[in-house]
Amino acid sequence: MKSLRCFCVCSLLLLKVSTGFGDLRRPENVSMDSLNTRYVLRWDWPHETAINQTVTFTAQYILEYQSRKASNEKKWRLVCVNVLEHHCDFTGAILHYKISFLLRVRANTKQQSSSWVQISFCPEDHAALGPPSSVKLSPVKGDLEIIITDPLSSTNQSMKTLLEDKLSYLIQYWRRSEEPQKAKVLETKNNLVMLTELYRQTWYCVRVQSRDVLHNKSSVFSDTQCTHTEGQMPYWETFLYVLIGLLLFFLLLYFCFYKMFTLLKNTFYPAIQLPDHIQELLFSESEKPQLLSPECPVSVCVPLVLVRTELDAVAVNEESNAGEQDSSTHSRHSSGDSGVYSTEEDSSHRSTTHTDLQMSSQKHREKLHDGTLLELCA
Ligand SMILES: *[C@@H]1O[C@H](CO)[C@@H](O)[C@H](O)[C@H]1NC(C)=O
Ligand SMILES: *[C@@H]1O[C@H](CO)[C@@H](O)[C@H](O)[C@H]1NC(C)=O
Ligand SMILES: *[C@@H]1O[C@H](CO)[C@@H](O)[C@H](O)[C@H]1NC(C)=O
Ligand SMILES: *[C@@H]1O[C@H](CO)[C@@H](O)[C@H](O)[C@H]1NC(C)=O
Repeated sequence: MKSLRCFCVCSLLLLKVSTGFGDLRRPENVSMDSLNTRYVLRWDWPHETAINQTVTFTAQYILEYQSRKASNEKKWRLVCVNVLEHHCDFTGAILHYKISFLLRVRANTKQQSSSWVQISFCPEDHAALGPPSSVKLSPVKGDLEIIITDPLSSTNQSMKTLLEDKLSYLIQYWRRSEEPQKAKVLETKNNLVMLTELYRQTWYCVRVQSRDVLHNKSSVFSDTQCTHTEGQMPYWETFLYVLIGLLLFFLLLYFCFYKMFTLLKNTFYPAIQLPDHIQELLFSESEKPQLLSPECPVSVCVPLVLVRTELDAVAVNEESNAGEQDSSTHSRHSSGDSGVYSTEEDSSHRSTTHTDLQMSSQKHREKLHDGTLLELCA
């Protein structure tokens, strides 16, 4: 019964009080609770007036035009007799949808009956319209197909058989990411509707309301259905996604290599580095040992950096070599490209390096006399 609660209370058009009964209170707030062709008459009754008595109710109906004749009093048809509930189901009475009826109800005890309370009811005008009995939503390429099943009568007939072409549907559809208030609206009498011009690959929600514009009726909305559209994404969007993907991939790759490189570097090449010119010489020493002649000051430079306690000894060593060095320098200056260097391949480059080394070693020597190590290592 609860499921049949209607949305608009049908108007209480006629209230007629029959006279001649005792002072038993009559039912109040009599109304028709209706949905499509399900009709339930409801009423209230003030309990406190007959505490110790069992109160029952009786409900009847008659075609409205028959009620005009007083002689038709016996033509009222019983639907509920002496029921305890405060409602009576008229659905089984098969009231014709387009004909106006009178319905009435009264309270009874063993001793007395109340007066009748009567209302007029015409289903076509007063019965509430239900939402579609089902709404099916399915994506068709970039569009959405909606299949609407008509609201059904109490005998599972389509309400279209009663409302004919007055039944229409109001479709609301909106992107799920947006508010339903921004929904687009489409009114139609068809049961198959195609929503077009939608965004591709996007979630949409749809709900449908039944309407009978002629009788100013509209149902509640159906349950909201959501689905997402299919179809190809626009090319620029695909391109954008691919681009972003690639960018992320390369960033990740770069990060990984950087990490690995740092790790390897820290493992095999500790952070403390030898000065460049010495490193270079160490390198060439291992590759081309023939470059190192015993009188070359280079061989003396290497221990300079590594061991502090030997500095004095080295300094002495260097000084002892200084004589040879000077003489070699002189001989080079005097005779141009001669001696050791002229016999080397790539002589010009090597001689330059040598000259630089000589100068730097001389400089180091000067510093060493002051006892400064930092200048040497830098
Ligand atoms: C009838 O309805 C009115 C308003 O809803 C309410 O105040 C009143 O109590 C009802 N009558 C009974 C007998 O319940
Ligand atoms: C209801 O019945 C009780 C006993 O069952 C009695 O005492 C009381 O007076 C009665 N009340 C009325 C209003 O009749
Ligand atoms: C109407 O259909 C529902 C479900 O489809 C079913 O349960 C019910 O018995 C049917 N009623 C009638 C009167 O055919
Ligand atoms: C239709 O019904 C609505 C409320 O349901 C009401 O506001 C409106 O005035 C009615 N229109 C007509 C033409 O009866």
